[in-house]
Amino acid sequence: MAKILVTGGAGYIGSHIAKALYAAGHEPVVLDNLSRGHRDFVRWGAFIQGDVRDTQLLGSIFETQSFDGVIHLAALAYVSESVADPDLYYEVNVCGTRNLLAAMVQAKVSNLVFSSSCAVYGEPDRLPIVEETPCNPINPYGFTKWACERMMMDFQTAYGLRSARLRYFNAAGADPAGQIGEDHDPETHLIPLLLAVAQGKKTPFSIYGRDYPTRDGTAERDYIHVEDLAAAHLAALSHLLDGGASLALNLGTGQGATVWEVLQAVERVTGHSIPYAIQPRRKGDPAQLVADAAKAYAELGWNPKHSDLDHIVADAWRWHQKRFG
Ligand SMILES: NC(=O)c1ccc[n+]([C@@H]2O[C@H](COP(=O)([O-])OP(=O)(O)OC[C@H]3O[C@@H](n4cnc5c(N)ncnc54)[C@H](O)[C@@H]3O)[C@@H](O)[C@H]2O)c1
Repeated sequence: MAKILVTGGAGYIGSHIAKALYAAGHEPVVLDNLSRGHRDFVRWGAFIQGDVRDTQLLGSIFETQSFDGVIHLAALAYVSESVADPDLYYEVNVCGTRNLLAAMVQAKVSNLVFSSSCAVYGEPDRLPIVEETPCNPINPYGFTKWACERMMMDFQTAYGLRSARLRYFNAAGADPAGQIGEDHDPETHLIPLLLAVAQGKKTPFSIYGRDYPTRDGTAERDYIHVEDLAAAHLAALSHLLDGGASLALNLGTGQGATVWEVLQAVERVTGHSIPYAIQPRRKGDPAQLVADAAKAYAELGWNPKHSDLDHIVADAWRWHQKRFG
């Protein structure tokens, strides 16, 4: 049993990780300022409402409690917001991470699992994306994640802090028990947007670009079930707790799905037809982002088990109807 601080644990992915930690017999403690999260998502373990920018709070958390490791998800994660307000993104994502790492070093807590993103790669010229693909982010959000990864490498060299930097592709789906799921405001992710259209809200659905060099002309992404993501965090944590070396890993399935294929899956699973309108491409939207996830399988023995597209959509739909029905 390990006691784990989960920053951002009131958010979409963090709450699924807290649930998985608890189910595996660990003790999660959630730290979240609720700026983008939900109090009712914190159901497994203790809750501290606070901000990763608050160095005093971080110091007192690590002084009064003894942690075996940290899973750090707390961050702001809208690309367009990061372009409009980079100062906020560097403050929360980079300064917040620096504060957390400094508090961990001070308290001699040396195991860190970090929520990175495929946004660190920018627009790679080769697919699928391997971890050795050069990191060339194209927006402030991606830069903040890459800066945090670099910081972690430097903290390893100087202070021995070991990290698993997990580069998620597109998190999707929901808790199969329907207790937690995706609830972002504003929502920008494809599947919940399609589900809102299936419910008769926000119609028609906008497809941005049908002239990409993909099999049906729409953009292709790699969707990974949030339960599979949570399982990967537990595997990465065990790797570090067992003394394993730092690593950076892609978390995806290696199987992309186009916007058109996801739309069809939503029609199939929900039984509702999705009215749509074709819009021009959006600036900065690459044609394809698909992971080569072989390294995560090799290093952690982790395999996505729930990431079949219909399974993802079915779990998301159940949650969506319960939350927004
Ligand atoms: N959703 C995805 O597809 C995806 C893909 C790649 C990476 N990520 C990363 O995964 C992490 C979680 O993403 P998510 O989709 O669950 O987002 P989310 O917004 O649902 O969760 C983030 C949580 O962090 C909290 N938070 C924000 N700023 C904070 C601060 N200053 N102090 C304390 N808590 C703070 C928010 O209240 C929220 O609960 C983020 O780091 C994100 O960058 C997400």
